Amino acid sequence: MPMPFLQDEVDDLKKRGVFTEQRVLNGPQLPTSVIDGKEVINMSSNNYLGLATHPRLKKAMIEATEKWGAGAGAVRPIIGTNEIHIELEKRLAEFKGTESSLVFVAGIAANRGTIQALLSNKQDEDAVISDQLNHASIIDGVRLTKAKRYIFNHCDMADLEAKLKEAQGHRRIMVITDGVFSMDGDIAPLDEIAKLVKEYGAFTFADDAHASGVLGPNGRGTVSHFVEQGKMEYEDWDIQMGTLSKGLGCLGGYICGTRNLTDHLRHAARPFLFSTAHPPGVAAACIAALDVVMEEPELVETLWKNTDFFKKGLKDLGFDTGRSETPIAPIIVGDEAKTMEFMRRLYDAGVMGVGIVFPTVPRGAARVRTIVTATHTMEELQKALDIFEKIGKQMEIV
Ligand SMILES: Cc1ncc(COP(=O)(O)O)c(C=O)c1O
Repeated sequence: MPMPFLQDEVDDLKKRGVFTEQRVLNGPQLPTSVIDGKEVINMSSNNYLGLATHPRLKKAMIEATEKWGAGAGAVRPIIGTNEIHIELEKRLAEFKGTESSLVFVAGIAANRGTIQALLSNKQDEDAVISDQLNHASIIDGVRLTKAKRYIFNHCDMADLEAKLKEAQGHRRIMVITDGVFSMDGDIAPLDEIAKLVKEYGAFTFADDAHASGVLGPNGRGTVSHFVEQGKMEYEDWDIQMGTLSKGLGCLGGYICGTRNLTDHLRHAARPFLFSTAHPPGVAAACIAALDVVMEEPELVETLWKNTDFFKKGLKDLGFDTGRSETPIAPIIVGDEAKTMEFMRRLYDAGVMGVGIVFPTVPRGAARVRTIVTATHTMEELQKALDIFEKIGKQMEIV
């Protein structure tokens, strides 16, 4: 048997009851989709605004492909940068209220590349202070550096301040947080973080993967959400990272900030330097997505109307949606086996939510995570609530 250790790995997954078959979508990503051959209400995608199948994105992608070809042909710094990539970066900077932006092939590449480029590979020369519940791609980025690591308790400003005090004396101090937390759907207090960080001479980084296209005016993200409330200015936040793959419906990650920041990253961020550029069609579709969110603000409004309806429905039924403040609505179950059984029964009854267990969330906090989109109809959401009620009662979750 070639590489017998692989059999051990697979057997171990099966023994722990966490081995899964790949779930497969049989058709487009829609609010009601065919998943593994069965039509279900799809409450698992990150396609917040339904842009993955929006006619304007599809048209832009096809036209750009006809005009410029299917592939970029090189990494960005060699000769993979097409004028359409530059246009997208200009548009993203405008969208996020910053001087400049730089696009990476994926959000994970943007996080890893940027964190590594900004922090030293000399042991403990720099420091990074990271929220306890930050996304895996941030954790990976931090692990690529030799910065001294501090983890602050989730959204706990007193603990952040304590860690800022401890970290004094390092060459650079980065404070990094998700804008919207992907497993709980709560919002980081960027305004308070910015104030604290200023006092201690650090700089700030927010991962807005789940806020872009979702939060703030026209879905401009978490910084704009607090700017709109008069609690901070754009200049108070140093680095805004976002993805083009969730609310904006296509593919990619980006970093927004000063021109100096993106100039530095162009020369130092390894996933930018050593990975082929997006096909032009991807850049064109992302530009179309920005056009849609700017010209059709009702999409973001509908997303929030649907979110309020669905989450109120869940709460009225007695489900625990934890700290959620956004369309990410976890239904906390606690027990891992019960959570996975809940997910299976929901699917059989016609709703696709995803069971999430340790280590993605702490032990005892297993949940089925649902995500509301702007394209769900009220009928679909009500039907999903009816199914949640039926299965939740059967399983004595409510
Ligand atoms: C918070 C967060 N950051 C980064 C990423 C990575 O983005 P991408 O899928 O574009 O690589 C994700 C999810 O995919 C995410 O949820």
